[in-house]
Amino acid sequence: MAKTRRDKADFYTKKAHKEGYPARSVYKLEEIQAANNIIKPGDSILDVGAAPGSWTLYTHRELIKGKGTIVAVDLNPLNLNPIPPTVTFYQGDAFSKEIRSKLVEKGPYDTIISDAAPMTMGNRSVDTARSENLAEQVLYLATEHLKQHGNLVIKIFQGGGQQEILKQMRTIFTKAKTTKPKACRSDSFEIFLIGLDKK
Ligand SMILES: C[S@@+](CC[C@H](N)C(=O)[O-])C[C@H]1O[C@@H](n2cnc3c(N)ncnc32)[C@H](O)[C@@H]1O
Repeated sequence: MAKTRRDKADFYTKKAHKEGYPARSVYKLEEIQAANNIIKPGDSILDVGAAPGSWTLYTHRELIKGKGTIVAVDLNPLNLNPIPPTVTFYQGDAFSKEIRSKLVEKGPYDTIISDAAPMTMGNRSVDTARSENLAEQVLYLATEHLKQHGNLVIKIFQGGGQQEILKQMRTIFTKAKTTKPKACRSDSFEIFLIGLDKK
């Protein structure tokens, strides 16, 4: 019998719980990494919109394998106990003057990953506009503070200007594309923009 959306959600949520991750979103990054090899041991990583912390923990454990550094930032606290030794966490708005200057100080980065999402209002045009705004700010940060040959992952809600952002990414990266990991909920309108090998 075909699995329902709810079965699929339960599968990833249960798997995350069993493997010690605070959110099922970890499997989106796992798929992105498997297809694009964006992070390697020793890298310096910036994780924007990191809470509750599954991308951060997965990056520490499985991608940099305890070697390298992760700067994680979110409006909310990480739900990781303990916070891994490679991680520096800043709580606040990643694009405020104060937090941004801390992120810049710790850079430049080999890879920037952003799963940042606005608090959704249920109004598609407001939600996508807010997501577009976050995605643009992450791209601007990457333009200035990602190393040459660096990689970028940005979440954006479909309809939120992703074609325009992708067009800009194609001028900055050797390759830029969109992907929707299988671990995304089927009713979610999020996609990810991937930039590989910054020129
Ligand atoms: C889907 S969650 C991220 C999940 C995370 N990748 C994980 O695996 O645990 C999106 C996050 O983006 C954060 N966020 C949204 N706008 C932000 C901003 N301006 N600065 C920092 N974090 C932000 C939210 O607080 C939220 O925790």
